[in-house]
Amino acid sequence: MSNSLQDRYVEIVNLVKAYPNPFGEDIRVVDGFDLRIKQGEMIGILGHSGCGKSTVLTMIAGLNEISGGNVVVAGKEIDGAGPDRSVVFQSPCLFPWMTALGNVMLGVKRVYPHASKKERRELAEFYLNQVGLIDAMHKYPREMSGGMQQRVGIARAIALKPKMLLLDEPFGRLDSLTRMELQDVILDILNQNQVTTLLVTHDVDEAIYMCDRIVTMTNGPHARVGRINEMPFERPRIRQEVLDHPEYYNIRGSLIQYLQDLEHEKENRGKVAEPAEDEPATEDSEADLEEALATQKSKGEKSELVFML
Ligand SMILES: Nc1ncnc2c1ncn2[C@@H]1O[C@H](COP(=O)(O)OP(=O)(O)OP(=O)(O)O)[C@@H](O)[C@H]1O
Ligand SMILES: [Mg+2]
Repeated sequence: MSNSLQDRYVEIVNLVKAYPNPFGEDIRVVDGFDLRIKQGEMIGILGHSGCGKSTVLTMIAGLNEISGGNVVVAGKEIDGAGPDRSVVFQSPCLFPWMTALGNVMLGVKRVYPHASKKERRELAEFYLNQVGLIDAMHKYPREMSGGMQQRVGIARAIALKPKMLLLDEPFGRLDSLTRMELQDVILDILNQNQVTTLLVTHDVDEAIYMCDRIVTMTNGPHARVGRINEMPFERPRIRQEVLDHPEYYNIRGSLIQYLQDLEHEKENRGKVAEPAEDEPATEDSEADLEEALATQKSKGEKSELVFML
């Protein structure tokens, strides 16, 4: 692969998302989002709630229709969802009637459809081991804590051998200790596999610790890339070394200041579009995999499962 392709492994060009408002007018929530990502780079996205972070991420995932612009991954313009871009959301969406092993084996099956069951099992065990879950591989989601379930979700996403890993606040619902553990799990995996990664987070410290560059988004509507901040820390990252780095508190202070400035701008500009109400969640009663998948697809964020069959 040429150097230039490695340098622009992911190219997001003039990305636009327009949603209709209650009067039927199209409002450009995201408008002209441009970003170039190097192969193996870890990008953090910070911005105020409702500015359009998840919208950008789900468009890259191919789970949300693009209204304008395009996204090119490894030289190929994306067209819908695919296992080359795997997603981890805040709540892991596991099939409840399958064990941790079964859930990860689904991902393996998607990438190695011709492998024998034994080979698939060995690969799934490898990924479960990477996320520290080998002793719990026969547990069902209901028998696992939120952190353990999220580990299964991460193992399944990695098992897809993605070109790009898309993480939307993956630790948002976890306590701070579990959160730190899982940050290190992801960093260890990325150190070994160099997967190009986009991490949406609200946590400035998490972004600084994990990312190579932190991209702030301007307030919506018409949100786009604001400031891009390069992190000066070496890899592999050691938490204490990052915290002790002479630049750490400057970077942290400057990012927080920038976000506060955006907040003031938003207040001064007046009211912005209210977030749409989510449909109430419904229980999946059918055990049939195809039907369950169709249901999951219609639930927006749970459509990370679209690759599993
Ligand atoms: N399906 C939809 N229809 C209409 N508007 C939508 C839809 N989905 C999102 N929006 C609007 O788009 C904007 C961006 O939403 P998005 O979920 O991307 O924000 P976010 O930055 O991820 O927020 P948070 O940090 O709270 O997760 C919001 O104003 C939201 O109300
Ligand atoms: Mg979001």
